[in-house]
Amino acid sequence: MEAARLQQEIVRRFGLRPQERWDRDLVQAMAELGRRHGLDGRRLAAALSSDPRLMRELAGLLTIEETFFFRFPEQLAAAVRHVGERWWRSPAEGFVIWSAGCSTGEEPYSLAIGLHDAFGPLARRCRVLACDINADAIARAREGVYGNWSFRGVAPNLRDRCFAPVDGGRHRLLEPFRSLVEFQHLAVQELGGAIPERAVEVVLFRNVGVYLDEPALRQCYAAFARVLRQDGLLIQAATDPTPPTERFVRGEGMPVGAYQLAALQRPRRPPSIRPARLSSIPPPIPNSPASLRPPPHIDALLLGDRGDLEQALQASNRVVTEDPTAPAGFVLRAQIYLAADRANEAVDDLRRALFLDPESWLTRYWYVLALRSADQTERAEGQLRDLLRQLAQRSTTEVLEDGVTQVGELRAALTAIAASYH
Ligand SMILES: C[S@@+](CC[C@H](N)C(=O)[O-])C[C@H]1O[C@@H](n2cnc3c(N)ncnc32)[C@H](O)[C@@H]1O
Repeated sequence: MEAARLQQEIVRRFGLRPQERWDRDLVQAMAELGRRHGLDGRRLAAALSSDPRLMRELAGLLTIEETFFFRFPEQLAAAVRHVGERWWRSPAEGFVIWSAGCSTGEEPYSLAIGLHDAFGPLARRCRVLACDINADAIARAREGVYGNWSFRGVAPNLRDRCFAPVDGGRHRLLEPFRSLVEFQHLAVQELGGAIPERAVEVVLFRNVGVYLDEPALRQCYAAFARVLRQDGLLIQAATDPTPPTERFVRGEGMPVGAYQLAALQRPRRPPSIRPARLSSIPPPIPNSPASLRPPPHIDALLLGDRGDLEQALQASNRVVTEDPTAPAGFVLRAQIYLAADRANEAVDDLRRALFLDPESWLTRYWYVLALRSADQTERAEGQLRDLLRQLAQRSTTEVLEDGVTQVGELRAALTAIAASYH
C-alpha cells in the first residue's frame, strides 16, 4: 500500500486526525514495523492489507504518548470518590474503571494507587481496564517500570511507598497496585464495542480526543454512553473536545472535565459519604519539572490546571510583576501561554527567563518547545542541537536543577523531538 492509501486507511479505521508530520513519520514507522516483524517493504505492504493488528500497530507508531503519574490529581480523586460512593450503596459489587487511551500506564496505575489507598486490600474488587492503540506503550505499561520523568508532579515519598528501585535509577510499581490494572492493545472504539452495557463506573478519556476526528469522537462518546452506568462519570482533560450535550452534561460540583450522562441530573450524594483515605491522593510537589511549582505560583497553576487560562494568566502576571528578576515567573507564564496557543508570547517569556538564568536546562527545554510551536523551526532545531550537544557531556544519571529529572530523561525527550524533524 502506498503512503497516501495507508494514511487514508489509518484515518478510516481509527479516526486519527492526519498531522503534517505524518508524511515523514510514516516512512520511519514503516521501517520500524518492517524491522520488528522481519518483513521487507513489499511483504509488509501486503501484510498490512490483511492483518488488522499490524495496521493498529502502525497507527500506534504515529501517536503522541505523553503522560505522567497523577496528572491532574483532582480528577483522579473524583474518580476514586465516585467509586467510593457506589461502594457504600452496593458493597457486594465489583467496579470497573476504564482508562481509554492509557499510553504507557501512568494514568491507570495512578488510579490503582488511589483505589488501593482508599479501599486497602478490598480494592481487589476494582478493575482498571486500560487500552491504547500504541503497542510499545502497552508493552511498557505492562512492564510497569518508570524513569523519573514519569514522576514529575509526584512527591518522592509516594514513589518510595508504591515503587521499588531497579537498575538505572528507574522504579517498578509494586504488585498490589499493578494487579488492579488490565492492559489491552486496542483502540478505544474497538474496546468500546466489547464492554458490556452499563458495566463501567468511570471512563477516563483524557488527552486522547484531541487527536481524533469527528466520526471517531462520535463513536467513542456513543460507546461511553452505552457502557457507563446510569450515574457513571466521564472524565476528560480541560483542553479536550466537549462531549455531545445530548449525551453528556457537566458533573455538578466536580473538577473541570467531569461529565455525567445527560439523562441523569439528579443531585450527587453528600460529600460525607467517602472512603476515609481519599486525601492520600498526593498534591503535586513544588518544583516538579512539568510544572515548576514554587509556592507563590500555585494560584496560577491551579487555575491553569482547571483550564481557566485567562485567570491563570492574570495570576502569573502578578507573579512576574512581584519579582521581575525571578526567572521562574516567566517560565510559568510561558507554560500558560503555550497552553493558550500563544506561542510567540511564550517564546518572549522564555527568552527573558534565559536572560536571567542562562544555565537552566529545563527552561531551555521549554524554549525549544515554544520555538517549535511558534513555527520558528530553524531556531528550535539549533537550540535543540546545542542542548543535546551539551547534555552529551554529562552523565545520564546526573540530576537537573529541579532535583528530580535526570540528564538521561531530558536527553531522551529531546531526542524524540529531534527525531520528529527528520
Ligand atoms: C497524550 S496520551 C494521553 C495518556 C493519558 N490518557 C493521559 O492523559 O496522561 C494519548 C494516548 O492516546 C492514544 N490514542 C490515540 N488515539 C487512540 C485511539 N483511537 N484508541 C486508543 N488509544 C488512542 C495514543 O496512542 C496515546 O498513547
